[in-house]
Amino acid sequence: MRCTAAASRWRRCTVSSCTSVTHNTACLLRHLDARLAAQGHDVIPLDVRTLPAEALLHADIGHPETVHAIERFRSADGVVIGIPAYQAAHSGQLKSLLELLPQYALEDKTVLPLATGGSTAHVLAIDYGLRPVLTSVAPAHITPGWFVQDKHIDA
Ligand SMILES: Cc1cc2nc3c(=O)[nH]c(=O)nc-3n(C[C@H](O)[C@H](O)[C@H](O)COP(=O)(O)O)c2cc1C
Repeated sequence: MRCTAAASRWRRCTVSSCTSVTHNTACLLRHLDARLAAQGHDVIPLDVRTLPAEALLHADIGHPETVHAIERFRSADGVVIGIPAYQAAHSGQLKSLLELLPQYALEDKTVLPLATGGSTAHVLAIDYGLRPVLTSVAPAHITPGWFVQDKHIDA
């Protein structure tokens, strides 16, 4: 992701959807957050794991924490989504959150999808699993994704 002078005011929402104790995805995103912040971007981290499960599963868009999460997407002009590959796709937790977004929630935003996983067998989790879901909320652009294997993460 190139950074220009004009882009230095951009706000990026980084969304982590890990559920395991290893937190590889969160580690990857925090690394990226630090790089973005160093380039002058405002970074708005959003950890899906901290959202109330009941509100997500019941699609409670009036719950203060889901309202707050949706607002974080709205206020950003770029969104980085980090997923661990779970059963060859993204987690149900992230899907539950994305289902709460309004139909055109990402229409003026660029999205960078990232994934962590144990095996390169599932590098297509981004393109076959996550990308169609992201497309449904109408992002202006989805960049090519990046898959990082566990063995390259020192969490
Ligand atoms: C329930 C479960 C399912 C997984 N399924 C896959 C998979 O299908 N493909 C893969 O490459 N890795 C798979 N993994 C490994 C995780 O994607 C990998 O360890 C990832 O870095 C975990 O990220 P996290 O620590 O942020 O949760 C799975 C791990 C778990 C716990």
